[in-house]
Amino acid sequence: MHHSTFSATFVALLAGTASAVVKDWGQCGGGQGWSGDSECASGSGCIKINDYYSQCQPGAAPANLQPEPQQPPLPASSTGTPTATGTPAGTGPGKELQSGYYWVRAVAAPNFHKYMQSNPLYATGPAVLGDYTTAGQFQVVDGQLVQLVSGPGEKPEKHLYGIVSEERFINNNSLSVTWSTTKNSYGKFAWNGDGLTWSVADITRPNAAAWYVCTGQQMYINLGNYLYQTPSGCADQTIHYYNDKHANN
Ligand SMILES: *[C@@H]1O[C@H](CO)[C@@H](O)[C@H](O)[C@H]1NC(C)=O
Repeated sequence: MHHSTFSATFVALLAGTASAVVKDWGQCGGGQGWSGDSECASGSGCIKINDYYSQCQPGAAPANLQPEPQQPPLPASSTGTPTATGTPAGTGPGKELQSGYYWVRAVAAPNFHKYMQSNPLYATGPAVLGDYTTAGQFQVVDGQLVQLVSGPGEKPEKHLYGIVSEERFINNNSLSVTWSTTKNSYGKFAWNGDGLTWSVADITRPNAAAWYVCTGQQMYINLGNYLYQTPSGCADQTIHYYNDKHANN
């Protein structure tokens, strides 16, 4: 309460001044309820993390600053980015980790403790990194990345599988991952150390745990080097799993 009163006063004080430029990794315009500065420094773009928070990310393309409705459809792009057209395959396992499953998340900026999930939730559509409150639950079985989408304790369980595109996206070094009711036939996922890796026989990857998280928080397998020649609008991330009872922030 005190905090929001303070923020409102603070914003009111700022309203009479010229708007400032937001520093890299700072909050920028676009989140619901955010009335602060919206402009990122040159060379940075305002990237929506969730409905409440957008962040200036170096190298990101400037994003549309209009507040977006809950779970908007992702825009199709000229690069053939997969779109979120799916319908939910289940009600989702909830906020408590179900037996045999793991949370999967990034542990470094700009996606620190953002969790793997589907967009829309528990539905066919792209794999994204999103808020901990909507974290998905996963396991790797016979090289398949399996998302639990049925309700807690519901039997039989319902699953979606992570499908890796053979088509290349963005910098010709990125493979999309989307959720499907049918199994993946291109390459194999594995847990390695505490990382989520993907490999296929005919591609030698410098880092099998390298991922990109790009516009719309969509996840791509990065076939190139980690932290090198990162495409505009994307962040390099390695993706990790753990099994605490709840996904934490
Ligand atoms: C993309 O990468 C593939 C595999 O290395 C290569 O065969 C193809 O020529 C590349 N395409 C472009 C446009 O660079």
